[in-house]
This record gives sequence, C-alpha cells and structure tokens, in this order.
Amino acid sequence: MKLTRRSFLGTTGLAGVALAGARGLGATELAVAQADLRRPTGAVDIVARDESYWERVAATYRVPSGHTNLEAGYFGMMAAPVLAAYHRHIDRVNMESSYYVRRQYAADAEAVRTRTAKFLGATPGEVVITRGATEALQRLIVQYNKIGPGDEVMYADLDYSAMQFAMNSLVARRGATVAMLDIPEPATRDNVLAAYAAALKAHPRVKLLLLTHLNNKTGLVIPVKEIVALARAQGADVVVDAAHSFGQMDLTLDDLGADFVGCNLHKWIGAPVGVGVMYIKAGRLADVDRMLGDEGSPADIDSRLHTGTTNFATTLTVPAAIDFHEAVGGSYKAARIRYLRDRWVSAVRGTRGVDILTPDERDMVAGITSFRIRGRVGRDDNQAVAAELLDRYGLFTVWRTGLSGGDCVRVTPALYNTPAHADRLAEALTAIAGR
Ligand SMILES: Cc1ncc(COP(=O)(O)O)c(C=O)c1O
Repeated sequence: MKLTRRSFLGTTGLAGVALAGARGLGATELAVAQADLRRPTGAVDIVARDESYWERVAATYRVPSGHTNLEAGYFGMMAAPVLAAYHRHIDRVNMESSYYVRRQYAADAEAVRTRTAKFLGATPGEVVITRGATEALQRLIVQYNKIGPGDEVMYADLDYSAMQFAMNSLVARRGATVAMLDIPEPATRDNVLAAYAAALKAHPRVKLLLLTHLNNKTGLVIPVKEIVALARAQGADVVVDAAHSFGQMDLTLDDLGADFVGCNLHKWIGAPVGVGVMYIKAGRLADVDRMLGDEGSPADIDSRLHTGTTNFATTLTVPAAIDFHEAVGGSYKAARIRYLRDRWVSAVRGTRGVDILTPDERDMVAGITSFRIRGRVGRDDNQAVAAELLDRYGLFTVWRTGLSGGDCVRVTPALYNTPAHADRLAEALTAIAGR
C-alpha cells in the first residue's frame, strides 16, 4: 500500500500538552509526540476550524493515498504514538511471554483499569475491561436478574441487533416478553422523548430498557439521561449502549446517568481493536449475576466477566490511547468531527433528492450522519450509491440497514479527514441526486 507523506516518524507530535509523565506512552513515542503539535488557544469552535493545527493532528495518522476513508464508525485508526506503544507492548509480551504475564501483568492491568475508570468518570471497582462493547453489553443484559415471569423488557428499532438478541435471550429464559418502539423519523429531541415516554407509559411492567446513546445506523444521539429518569420513575433499569459515545462526544458516565453501561475503546478512543469497558454503578452489582457460575467474590465486578486469556498488548495500550485522546482534548476532538460533519450536511441539506436522516439539533448528533437518495430505500440501491462514491469520487462510506424508513449510507469523518473531503462528498451527492 502506498503511503502519503503522513508517515508518522518525523511528522507527529503533541507539544506542551498533558503527555509529560503520561503512563501510556514510552520515551520514544513521548519524544515523537512532543515534537511540533501545539494546540492553538481560543474557543473550541474556532480551534475546530484551524486547519494548520488539524493538519498536524491528521499527520499523526498514516493513511493510504488511494481513497478517503469516511467510514471511521467501524473502528478507529490508531494515531502514530499509540501504534508505536502497541508495537512496543506486542514485542514485550511476545518476548517475555508468561514470565511477564505471570509476574507483572496483573498490576499493569489494574493500572489500566484505574486509568480507564478515571477517564470515564467511574471508580476502579465499577469497571472491568472487556473485548469490546458487545461483550460488555451482552453480559449486562443476559446476567441482569431482576426480571421474572410477566415482566417486560424494551428496546427500539434502531438498537444494535446483537443487543436486541441478548434482550430476546433474557426474556426467553425468564418468562418475560419484549415491548418494542420505533424511534420517529425524522427525529427531534421532543419527539424522541415523547416516544419513550409514551412507550414506557403503555408498558408499566418494563423492568429493563436498552438505549443506544449514539446510534450506529443514523448517528442520532438520544437524550439518554432524561429517558433514564423516565424509566427509573416507573421502576425500570436501563442498559446504555455507548459503543460510539466516548471519544466522539465529550462526556463522562455522569452525563448518561445510567447504572449499566457498555462501551468500547477501539472506535473513538483509538485503542487497538478488541477492547472495551463494562460499567456497573457502585451498589448495583447484586442485580447482575456472576458469569456462568463464576465463583469469584460477589462483591467484585470481575466475577461478572470471564474472558480467559486475553490480548494483553491491546489492554496495555489503552493508556496510550487515552493519553493521545486527552492531548488532543475531548471537547476539541468532538468539535472538529462535528465541524466536518456539519460541513457536508449543511451543503446538501436543502438539495432536492437527498434526505439527511439525522437532525442538526446541537445535542442530537455528533460525527456520524446517514443519508438516503430519495426513494432509494433498498439494499442494492444504497450499496450502489456507496460503490459510486468510492469508484468515481474515491470516498469510502458504508451501506446500513435496519431502519424502519429504509436502508441508507452512513458517513463518519475522523481526525484524519479534511474540509476538502467533506466538500467532495457534498459535490458527489449533489451530482448523484441531480441525475
Ligand atoms: C451501537 C453499537 N453497539 C455495539 C457495537 C459493538 O461494538 P464492539 O465492536 O465494540 O463489540 C457497535 C459496533 O459497531 C455499535 O455500533
């Protein structure tokens, strides 16, 4: 694969930021990272448009020259210092093997847990490192034990299918049933809240509600905290799928207000693929069974997940990813991604024949947004649009399905994208819709 001049050595760096003393980055990465990247001062929204700064941030990602990736929603690319840390951990684990893992890994993994908990706004005893959001959410759902015959669980059409399956599995084992709701399209803060309020009112026996905070199909962000309060008021617990939230948005667990949350660190925090977090709020452990007869202490969250031999290097790289994320700055990163999103969306929002499926309301969207060429609701239609974007315009996006209104194409910018990429997408969509 041909690489652009953004190869990381010699071009990366984060100067004058919180990296000094960071535990995740080794001396080499730290030196590289401190080379030349100094964030300008000023309001977040102004910095979000400072191209000379973002050019230097983008240079910390090694990207291919043949296409432009606008599909960062699948998993995140590691920035160069994080990739270097990952390589270092792989080398060490491979070289020292069981000698390292048996003698030192447990302490290192505890440090990772502590760092991750602090980043999310939790205590170490409330989190456990998982292989991703799926593992965390499946455990939270199927091991939830406050549900019995005649009770209900609730999820929406837009929720992630693997979590819907887990909810189905829970009710099948416990003699409960599923209540579903459709999230309105187009969605607004008011109609989403009203939809959940009405659905909960119509189903007073709901004991567990699944909420996807930032939707993978459309990018819709729902007002989780308010919905959690509605559910709690009628005695229902909430599991929040936050697979896309941390790192794409600037937030902490407190902003979600839920007692049970699953997320990953390999999408928007930029850790290596295969790592996530399960969160159970202090005081709620008793409501989640230990995993498959685990005989660990009921008072220890580790008894709720048993992964087995794990990818040590991936877990060990998490602090480096958090270091880099915090060095860029959660609020700056979120604002930059949102700026790139708003740029292409505002250019095509009024274009005849292009339906943008995500609202522009400030708190209802982050970086992900999906569109549909009007009337093209099928799989083949949308795959053809994504194929044309790639073949003719060099823009990589992805077809998504499972929305009640029909299939769509999802666009997800990341820190290595530029306004020119957003403009090119807008031109392409205008041309496709105009035919
Ligand atoms: C909304 C949502 N939930 C859960 C997942 C699963 O995440 P993971 O790959 O970390 O298991 C994804 C992944 O795309 C997602 O978009």
